Amino acid sequence: MTQLTTRRFLQIAGLTAAGFLLCACGKQEPPAAPAPVASAPAPAPAKVYVVGTDAAYAPFESQNEKGEIVGFDIEVVQAVAAKAGIEVKFVNTPWEGIFNALGQGDRDLVVSAVTITPERGQTMDFSEPYFDAQQLIAVKASSKITKFADLKKRKVGVQTGTTGDEAVSKLQGKTSANIKRFESTPLALKELESGGVDAVVADNGVVIHYVANNPGGKFKTVADKDFVPEQYGIALKKGNADLLAKVNKGLADIKADGSYDAIFTKYFGAPPAQAAAAAAASAASK
Ligand code: ARG
Repeated sequence: MTQLTTRRFLQIAGLTAAGFLLCACGKQEPPAAPAPVASAPAPAPAKVYVVGTDAAYAPFESQNEKGEIVGFDIEVVQAVAAKAGIEVKFVNTPWEGIFNALGQGDRDLVVSAVTITPERGQTMDFSEPYFDAQQLIAVKASSKITKFADLKKRKVGVQTGTTGDEAVSKLQGKTSANIKRFESTPLALKELESGGVDAVVADNGVVIHYVANNPGGKFKTVADKDFVPEQYGIALKKGNADLLAKVNKGLADIKADGSYDAIFTKYFGAPPAQAAAAAAASAASK
């Protein structure tokens, strides 16, 4: 026992003994109500919202050497939570089960570079968008592939159930044997490195980050303006209007006070407007 709790224990023990004494002398009297203990009542424990994330998606969400979940998405949600006055904790959750976990109520929020799509919108709610993205192709530096259409008859790696999977499924047909589906995007990129696939299609931020951090893999990226623009949102179980309002208010607050821009710049090297202009210029040149 710490000093404090020992003292408190003695205090309570003393009060109890005093109560017995009072009872002993006033036979018919009901037992005296316990005297109030001189300390603030413990506040009701705040609800901790559980945030699911597939932490194999740097720089949006990944695990550092200590096993902590870190990244752009994590810092955005932490900042949103601080503004909204809610507590959050992040739980690593495989992408394939992530929306189920949300639907079951095992996760209150999902932040996982999730693209807002009309189809997903039927089974979950989304916050306002917080990030612009687009698919990007990774190939070996020696590859002759120059555009998305070149992937029509190639072996392509994707993460199962992502928008990259959807794009390639549309190009090749959903049941194409040339689509190699992986449980994580890094696994698909490893397969590209070992020559098991000719290309990987995934979110631009993740592909750029991976290529930059794996110079040994000798990759290059191929942009294509035919990929539709995407936007990430924080996902919630349908109908949770209270929490959704809090999250949206928090997002608006961090966009208004510059903290969103600061997080963006920390991860992407330039504020959002500048980064968007650079991305548009590079896509237009393809
Ligand atoms: N933005 C893509 C999608 O929503 C890929 C997201 C994958 N996220 C992740 N953490 N693995 O389908």
